[in-house]
Order: sequence, then structure tokens, then C-alpha cells
Amino acid sequence: MKLTETQKKFVEDLLGKMTLEEKVGQLNQDSPSIVGGFDVPFEELIEMVTDGRISQEEFGKIMATAERDYHEDDIRAGMVGSVMGNDPVKANELQRIAVEESRLGIPLLMGFDVIHGLRSVFPIAIAEAGSFDDDLMERTARMAAKESRAYGINWNFAPMLDVARDSRWGRVSEGPGEDPYLASKFARAKIKGLQNSTDSTENYVAACTKHYIAYSACEAGRDYNTTTMSTSQLYNVYLPPFRAAMEEGACSAMASFNDLNGVPCTVNSYTLRDILKGELGLEGFVVSDANAIRECVVHGIAEDDVDAGIQALNAGLDMDMGTRIFYDHIAQAVKDGKVSMETLDDAVRRILSVKVWLGLFENPYVDQSAIDAYAKALPENHVALCQEAAEKSIVLLKNQDNILPLNKENKFTLVGELADRPDEVVGAWSLAWQKDDCVSIKAGLENVGAKFEYYPVCGPEGELNIEELKSAIDSDSEIVVAVVGEYTSMSGEASSKADITIPGHQREMLKKLVAAGKKVVAVLMNGRPLALGWEAEKLNAIIEGWHLGIQMGNAISKVLFGEINPSGKLSSTFSSVNGQEPMYYNHPNTGRPGTKSKFTSKYLDAPIEPCFPFGYGLSYTTFEYSDLKLTENKDEIIASFILKNTGDVAGTEVAQLYMQDVAASLVRPVKELKGYERVTLAAGQSKEVKLTLRKCDMGFYNNQGKYVCEDGLFRIYVGGNSCDVLDGEVRVAF
Ligand code: GLC
Repeated sequence: MKLTETQKKFVEDLLGKMTLEEKVGQLNQDSPSIVGGFDVPFEELIEMVTDGRISQEEFGKIMATAERDYHEDDIRAGMVGSVMGNDPVKANELQRIAVEESRLGIPLLMGFDVIHGLRSVFPIAIAEAGSFDDDLMERTARMAAKESRAYGINWNFAPMLDVARDSRWGRVSEGPGEDPYLASKFARAKIKGLQNSTDSTENYVAACTKHYIAYSACEAGRDYNTTTMSTSQLYNVYLPPFRAAMEEGACSAMASFNDLNGVPCTVNSYTLRDILKGELGLEGFVVSDANAIRECVVHGIAEDDVDAGIQALNAGLDMDMGTRIFYDHIAQAVKDGKVSMETLDDAVRRILSVKVWLGLFENPYVDQSAIDAYAKALPENHVALCQEAAEKSIVLLKNQDNILPLNKENKFTLVGELADRPDEVVGAWSLAWQKDDCVSIKAGLENVGAKFEYYPVCGPEGELNIEELKSAIDSDSEIVVAVVGEYTSMSGEASSKADITIPGHQREMLKKLVAAGKKVVAVLMNGRPLALGWEAEKLNAIIEGWHLGIQMGNAISKVLFGEINPSGKLSSTFSSVNGQEPMYYNHPNTGRPGTKSKFTSKYLDAPIEPCFPFGYGLSYTTFEYSDLKLTENKDEIIASFILKNTGDVAGTEVAQLYMQDVAASLVRPVKELKGYERVTLAAGQSKEVKLTLRKCDMGFYNNQGKYVCEDGLFRIYVGGNSCDVLDGEVRVAF
């Protein structure tokens, strides 16, 4: 986000005209309040859906017709800076009040959660990051931005950049996995895609990097839980994607719910002012997470709302999402000298700057043609990009005796409730999908004329249907495709799980199919890495399908029948059994790394190695790495090697480059991803691949938050995942 001098002057002039109350109004984000349309208090309604007295579907129907207060009078009075929503007609209505009826006509930011697409729903981030395709990740963000503006949204609460190492945490689904380097590349791609198309105001939005900071390090993987870590861990693991996003000019950030080392991120001036606005150079603003300012009282860092609001604004939190604490108390706090006018002006200036950068003063409304573009069906190019992203995010985890790809002429048996659930392909934080756009796996198989019998048998919850299982076992087809995994509701916010094996009776179903002598191909639909120890050992094949978005069914069927050769890799480690989490590849070695020897770091009752490691993914062909050579120039280490397609079909390999700082002033990870490249090779084709490691990227942050490059020995690894690698070493003097 760069403002011209003229734009900066416009902001200063406008700021100079604002009253104290109008300034406070810009710091207030309002959501439409539910005010009626049903015969119980709203809180009671929430209780009823929570304890199951009414279903989600019934709740949705009530919400659809509920009366809402959009706070028009406050907008008219200039007391609202932003609203939430994705209805273009309502957006224009509210914007018109702000622009044409308030004293200064300051337009509204229209914010919404567009995490992996709006109506064109792409794969969840943990899956898309596994494509290791930066260009793809940018293109999906660009399309999400274009759709957002058409739906009246000019501020996306995305990208979510939480590096996550504990699969018990439900929000691993929303972020780019466990690696800081991959997460940083994801961050750059997403900010470029969301923000950097200034050819028209219909094509870009303000990004909101979240959740700042270290929310994913919640103790025990329990959402909203406390986080504690060293400065070096904060800087080396959790900050890198935010640093990358700020370098790309991200417009805003969302402070996270968690307390970090005892200070909630909502009121943490060290992380907000010193690091984010100081060191990383955020020029836009920081918004709280929903209700988070009020929760500072619950945290025990503030006595009451007033105290929490004053602490937050003074700590560098600029906009209040949903509590109205700023709206109610900041004007008086300024009058009482508890918040300086300079602090208030800085927050307002940052918010106005984003509005100016978005072009909202010139183009505040949604153009009718943009609304019409999506009135009926999604444009073909949107559907095509959803399918491309889905295809590239599929990971082949096991393919025993090359049972895959299947022959489309041969009949097989399809089982699993999830196979016939188009509503379950979209994953967590999909808020604007339309069922007609969604292709279930069963529909995808039907679309290509596959021959199969279908028996739901069971899903992630509920009983196993014995009759249907018996029919599946009695069917004359040897191969069973079992679609198993999680409901969307089992990942995302407030969805931490202590048991991350395949839920319900699905594993029981798989065991019975295997016991009956069937050859079982599992297709996973899940939002988190699952503990797959039994499946990895006993099933014939496993396809990791994640929640791939609206084109999931078509993408999976193309992989099942070999129309496309899977190329995705894992952006997160998969453990074998519960209890191993957190499990991640880039860990310190310890003085006693786990081996068979007794007195080493391991469990008595679980394997030492992961079930499937970071960066892992098979293909329908095979690849061979050879002849690793390391060369060095003033600024770089270049790893060159021969990559050969040793199979009989073309394929794309994600070649990966890792490094290890063998001896440093702090223990360093046994491996750190530092480069990757998607390489497509015909059957039998070889190619020399060069992956370059800049010497300036070989350092780390110490416990003073200082970046250091220390002379010494480095091991360099190349391979198709973080375990099976060629290695070399180089001694570097910086
Ligand atoms: C939620 C989430 C955040 C989201 C916000 C607005 O609680 O933590 O990711 O953007 O509220 O919906």
C-alpha cells in the first residue's frame, strides 16, 4: 500500500476537519445486529442451536429472515468506519448513507472473511499451499479480490498466515502449514493477488493479515489458549510470513485472541508498535479480532471495558471489531488525557489511508455490472481456476502395487457418506458458497461416466449402516473407493480435537472392508492432518483430498482415473497416532534424537518417524535425484542436480531445497526449507535443476530479535520431501 503525496495530503486535510467524535467513529467496526424476527431472545437462540434444540439448518432459516439493525443512524452521524457483510445491494445502501448523508462523507470499509475464495471456493489454505505453486496462489487471490468487490466487499480478512505445528488445532486448515518459508511465499502470493491489481477498483481489496501473532502456538492445540515462547522462536517461526506480507505492502493486520508471554496480542505494544508497525513497517492499520478488546477483561489484563479500550488503542490497536468499546469510551478517554490526540490521529490516519488507497472516495459503490456478473452462474474461467487449484492440491500418499489410477471401464464400489455431500467440499470459512456450484466426489465420478455402486455406510458421525456395509462387501467388485474424513465443522475456529484419527465409525468400516479382502482406496476429505498410522499400513492407496473447494469432485475423479497425475505435497506433517502432536519436520535435533536406543527422545508406544513427512507426495510416475553439486558465489549457494522421470508417464515434481546450520549460537532445526520448484518431465526425461539459496537467507534471529548470519558448516539437502534427500555440505564465511 503506497500513497502518493497528493493522497497523503488529502488524508491530512480530512483529518484536520474531523471532530473528536468523528475520529472515534472511524475506529469502530459494526456488524449488523440481530434485533428480532423470532420469539426468543437472541442469546437464547444461540443456546438452542448450541445444545441442539434447533438444528443448524433451522437456525440458518431463522437468521435468513431475522430483523437486523445496520446502524444506519450511527453511519449517518459518522460514527462507523467499517461494516461487515457480503450483500452488494445492502453495501451500496449503507455506503450511500456514509458518503451522501454524513457530514464529511467518509466511505465505509466493507469487511468480510474471504479466506479461500468467496463464491468461487478454492482449496483450503493448508491444501493450496501444498501445490507449492506461487503463481496459482496469486491467481486464486486475484480472483477472490475481483469477486469480493463485486459483492460489495473491499476488505478481506485474509490471508491467514498462522504457521501451525499442532494438528489438534482446528485452524490448521486455514493457514499455509508448518513451514515459515512456504508460509512466507504463500503470504507474498496472496498479498500480490489481493492488492496489486490497480487497473481498476473492481480488481483489488485491502488484505488483512492474521492472526497477529503466534495464535497457532496455543498450548495443547486448544483454540484461544495461552502461548509462550522465546523471542527467537517468535521471530524465526511465526513472524516470517507477516514480515513477507508487510514487504508486499499489506494494508492491515488482525490482532489475535491469544496472550503471548502473558500479554494479550490485542493490547501488546511490543508486538503491535515495536515489531509490526516499527520493524515490519505496517503503514495501514490493525483491527482487533471479534470481541477481543472486551476479552482483555477476561484475560485479566484490564479491569473493565474502559481500561481494555484505552490499553488497546495505546498499544497500537486501531480498530475495534464488534464491541463498541472505542465508540463508547475513547472520546472521554482523550478528554481525560488517558489517550493522546496524537495516538488517536495516528489510528484514524492509518484507516483513512487504506480507504484512500482503495479509491473509495472516488468509487465508493458496487457497479451494477459487477453484481450482474455473478447473478446466475459462475463465469467459466472462475470454475476452471477452482478446478486447476483443486487438481494441484491433491496429494497421493500411498499407491501400493500401483493400484491407481483405476481403469474407468472397470466397476468399483464407492462408500462413505462424504462422497455424496457437495456441501462438504468447501471446507472451513466458506461463507458464500452456493450448492449448485459444488461438485461432490460421487458427482465427479458420474460426470466422467465411471461404473460404480454406491453405499454411504457411514460418515464422520452417526452409526455404521450394517446393511449397506454388507452390500458393499458382497458386491462383486474387488476395489472399494472409500471417501472418509471430517465434516467441515470439525476444523476451523473453535474446532480443536484431542483425537485426530479418522472420526466416527469410518475406520471400523475400513477395517471390515480390508478384512473382507477388498482392495481399499481411501480418499480423504479433512481440514487437518489426521493420525493415519493404521490406514498407512493397511490400505492399498490413500489420496489426501482435503477440502478442495467447489470443483473437488471433478478433480478427484480426474486423479482416480489418471487423467491428471497428482503433484501436490504435504504442507504439514502427518503423525501416526494421537499423542504425537505437535509434530513438525523443522525441529531442533536435541542431544538425543529418537532412535531404537532406549535413552533417546521418543515415545515407548508410538513410532519415531512421522506417518507422512512435510513435503511428501507421490506421483503416478517416479522421480530420481542424482549428481548433487554445490557451487558458491559471493551471495549464493547453488544446488544443482539431475532430476529424472524414471516412470512411464509424464509428471510434475516439487523439487525441494533444505539447509541445516550445523553449529550455531542457538540450536537450529535439523532442516529448513529454503527453496522449491515445480518441474514437469516427460516419461524418461532428465533435466538439470538449479535451486539457489541466498547467503543472506541462511541466518536466524537470536533472542535479542537480531538477525545473525554466523560463519560455519551448513548441510544442503535436495529431494522430493523433507526425508528422502541427497545431501552435501558447504562451509560459509559471511
Ligand atoms: C473470527 C476469527 C477471525 C475472523 C473474525 C471475523 O473470530 O477469529 O479469523 O476474521 O472473527 O469474522
